[in-house]
Amino acid sequence: MNTTQDRHRGTRRHVGRTGALAAALGMALLSGCQQVRQSISIGDMSSAYNREIWWMSLWAIALSIIIFVGVSYALFYTVSKFRDDRHGAEPAQFHGNNRLEVALVVVPVIIVFGLSVLAVKSLAVVNNVNAEAPKIDVLGRQFWWNFGYPAATAAAGGVVTNGNEMIMPAAQPVAVTVTSGDVIHGFWAPNVGGQRAAMPAVKKTWMIDSDRPGAYQGNCSQLCGASHANMRYKVVVLEQARYTATLNAMQAYRAPEPAPGSAEARGYALFMQGKPSTGAVACASCHRVQGTTAAGAAGPDLSFFGTRRTLGAGIWEAMTEAHWTDEKAAAELHAWLKHSPVVKPGSLMPRYDGGEYLVQGKSVKGGTLTDTEIDDIAAYLRSLQLPAEADYWKGTPVMGAPTAGGTP
Ligand code: CUA
Repeated sequence: MNTTQDRHRGTRRHVGRTGALAAALGMALLSGCQQVRQSISIGDMSSAYNREIWWMSLWAIALSIIIFVGVSYALFYTVSKFRDDRHGAEPAQFHGNNRLEVALVVVPVIIVFGLSVLAVKSLAVVNNVNAEAPKIDVLGRQFWWNFGYPAATAAAGGVVTNGNEMIMPAAQPVAVTVTSGDVIHGFWAPNVGGQRAAMPAVKKTWMIDSDRPGAYQGNCSQLCGASHANMRYKVVVLEQARYTATLNAMQAYRAPEPAPGSAEARGYALFMQGKPSTGAVACASCHRVQGTTAAGAAGPDLSFFGTRRTLGAGIWEAMTEAHWTDEKAAAELHAWLKHSPVVKPGSLMPRYDGGEYLVQGKSVKGGTLTDTEIDDIAAYLRSLQLPAEADYWKGTPVMGAPTAGGTP
């Protein structure tokens, strides 16, 4: 019941002879090689949602086995008892056997009714939304996710939201309300239960939960465009106390003010104003950073970018202590800022290398930023960090990965 997607990138490693062709292909497309395992499990019993579905399935499978055995017995019994004899005599006729005909109608009706009772009971359990439960608003867009905490008002104004990384408490069902800002997406983090379509103008609420703290893989499960497969997210399940503390820190958070003359300060200026002389659009027109005037909603919230360990809706991960200062991760961040539509097909983020990219079928020319300017923006983004004690990755085991977040 596990599926694992492996991605190779960035560094050298040994590949067996059988894998040589695939490796050559991979190397041609990508440079280097570091493995990012994306592991999901629909049979994760640490979620009450999954346990409910599991027990319903077991009953349905058990009933199916009983039906199979019953039908097989009836078949073999009939074949053996009423088989053609050697004398060519007419077999016994039972046309008009009312008892048999009634049984043949009633028994299947009882079976179907029994199965439907099981299904309806489970539907009622998994769709039972508790009004007292913590709420998370999920917005899917081409090709990223935003997670909002409607009960958590930020001291700096607005509601706490985080792009592509969702935190939730352990051992406490959470009411998730899913919608879409454009086409239909699918919210699917099977370890914490269930799957729902994210539809524009429709809000669907249901409960998800997990007893076990850890970081779980989420994917978009509805074909939604060029980067459907690059529309991932992480669900980080935290112990109750840690969850509350983290959310409190997020509420209190204001983006740090960069020291005058620093790379962060230059990056901040570019982030807020862009570089109109070259047509480079301001990041702030599409992204929100809590505690600044950046309030764009066309792209994911970047308030805690420095704490986040996924980039480009999870197509890159930096699960080490150094995360975005790690050499390879820094190169990925640089490439992302420079020309996101090149590294992620269909990305609506502008190119900053002066190249052209497609927006709704129309070719648009991006502005130009120098590599130094891009690095300044990266430095500013890295500085957007929650206090160390609110780093939800620190020590968090990552599902399917050998290491915890925050430990190399
Ligand atoms: Cu969004 Cu597939």
